[in-house]
Amino acid sequence: MAVSFIILAAGMGSRMNSDTPKVLHHVGAAPLLHHALTAARALEPSRIVVVTGHEAAQVAKSAEAFDPSVECVLQEPQLGTAHAVDMAAPLLADFAGDVIVLYGDTPFIRPETLQAMRDARAHHSVVVLGFEAKDPGRYGRLVVSGDDLERIVEYKDSTDEERLITLCNSGVLCASAKLIFELISKVENDNEAQEYYLTDLPALARAQDLSAGVVTCDESETLGVNTRQQLAEAEAAFQSRARSDALENGVTLTAPETVFFALDTHIGRDAIIGPNVIFGTAVTIESGAEIKGFCHLEGCHVSRGAIVGPFARLRPGAELAEDVHVGNFVEIKNAILDEGVKVGHLTYIGDADIGEFTNIGAGTVTCNYDGVMKHRTRIGKRAFIGSSTMLVAPVTVGNDALTASGSVITENVPDEALALGRAKQVNKPGLATKLMARLKSIKAAKGSS
Ligand code: UD1
Ligand code: MG
Repeated sequence: MAVSFIILAAGMGSRMNSDTPKVLHHVGAAPLLHHALTAARALEPSRIVVVTGHEAAQVAKSAEAFDPSVECVLQEPQLGTAHAVDMAAPLLADFAGDVIVLYGDTPFIRPETLQAMRDARAHHSVVVLGFEAKDPGRYGRLVVSGDDLERIVEYKDSTDEERLITLCNSGVLCASAKLIFELISKVENDNEAQEYYLTDLPALARAQDLSAGVVTCDESETLGVNTRQQLAEAEAAFQSRARSDALENGVTLTAPETVFFALDTHIGRDAIIGPNVIFGTAVTIESGAEIKGFCHLEGCHVSRGAIVGPFARLRPGAELAEDVHVGNFVEIKNAILDEGVKVGHLTYIGDADIGEFTNIGAGTVTCNYDGVMKHRTRIGKRAFIGSSTMLVAPVTVGNDALTASGSVITENVPDEALALGRAKQVNKPGLATKLMARLKSIKAAKGSS
C-alpha cells in the first residue's frame, strides 16, 4: 500500500533562544528538517507534506531545497498537533494509502522503524511509535492493555498513577489517510493546554471499535531537539552513528572519534579516512580512495585510487578523477582534475580544468578572480606546470606544454611549448659581499650614534 508523510514543523522552538526556526538548526551539516525528510524519503512515499508556521517561508524554502516535490502547507495559528496534521487534509484526504506523521525536530528516526510501523498496520488501524524512557519527564504516556494501545495521556493531563508509566509517546503515528482525517474531525481541545492533540487518535479509534497498537524503538531514535544543549547532544549522537555506519560499511577510519560527517556524506567500501577529517555537505568518496589526516572537504567528488592530504581543502565543485594525488596545503575549488593529475604542495586551483597526467608544481596559483569576475584556467594533458607559476585566467595551457618555474602566464601556451614568463636573471660578480659590508657599516654607525 502507498504511503505519504506529514512532517510537523510549525512550532516556534522558543527554548532554542534563536532567530532561526528550530527545524532549520543544523546537525550533521544539514537542517533538522532534512533528517526527517531523509528518513521519510527512504520509504519512497507518494507525497511528503511539511506543515509550516513559524518563519514559514524559510522553512518551506529549505524543504524545497531538499526536494522540490515536497509540498508545504501553512498552519496559522498553531492550535496543536492534531490541528497541524489537519492542515494537510486538502492535499491528502483522498489519498488511498497510509499516512505517517513525523516531527521536524526529531532527526534520528530510522527508516527501518518507520517500515516496522507500516508492517504493524496489518494488525492495527492506528499505530503509534513508543519508547521506554529512562526519564519519562513530560512525555505523553502510552496506556496499553496487552498488545493494544488504549489511549495516550499527555503529561499535563495525567494522574500520578499514569505518570509512573515509562512507555512514552514519540509523536510518530501511522494510519490510513482516510481514518486520520476522520478521527481528527472528532478531536476536541478540552484539555489542560486547550490544544487539539493528535494523541487523542488512539482512544477515538478504540471508541469506534478499531484497534490501536504500539511499535517500540530505542529511546535514542526519538531524541527531540528543543534546546541548544539537546542540539549539541544530537550532533554528538549523529556523529557517533555516522562513524559506526561508515565502519560497518567497510570504510577504514583510523581515529573514528575525530572524523565528522554530514548527513549526505557517501563513502565507498575500502576507502581510508585518516584522523581529523571534516566532511561538509555533498561529498562522495569512491571505494579505495584515501583521505589523509586534517583535510576539509565540501561539495566534492573523489574517485577510486585518489589520495588527498594531509592538510588539503576540497571546496564545492572539486572533481578528482581516478588516481589523482592532492597533497598538503592545497585548495581546490570548482575544478575538474582528470585521471592521474598530481598537485602535491602549496597550491590553489580554482575554476580550472586539468587534463590527465598533468603535474602541477608547488606554489602554483590559478589567478581566477580579477576583483569582479571569475575566469577559467584550462590545462591540457601531460602538461608540466613549474613551481610557483601564476596562471592569470582566462588562460589555456596546451597538451604536453611546460611552464617555467616562477612564470606569470598571461597568454595561452600552445601544445608542446615551453612558456617562460619571468624576468631574465642577471648575476653581478662580488656584489653580494660588497652589499653586506655596506649594510653592516650602516648598522654600526646607527648603533654608535
Ligand atoms: C508531543 C506529544 C507527546 C509526545 C512528545 C514527544 C502531542 C499532543 N503530544 O508533545 O505525547 O510525548 O510530543 O516529543 O502531540 N507542532 C505544530 N503545530 C502545532 C503544535 C505542534 O506543527 O500546533 C509541531 C511542533 O513544531 C513539533 C511537534 O509538532 O515539531 C510536536 O509539538 P510539541 O509542542 O513539541 O509537542 P510536545 O508537547 O513535545
Ligand atoms: Mg516537543
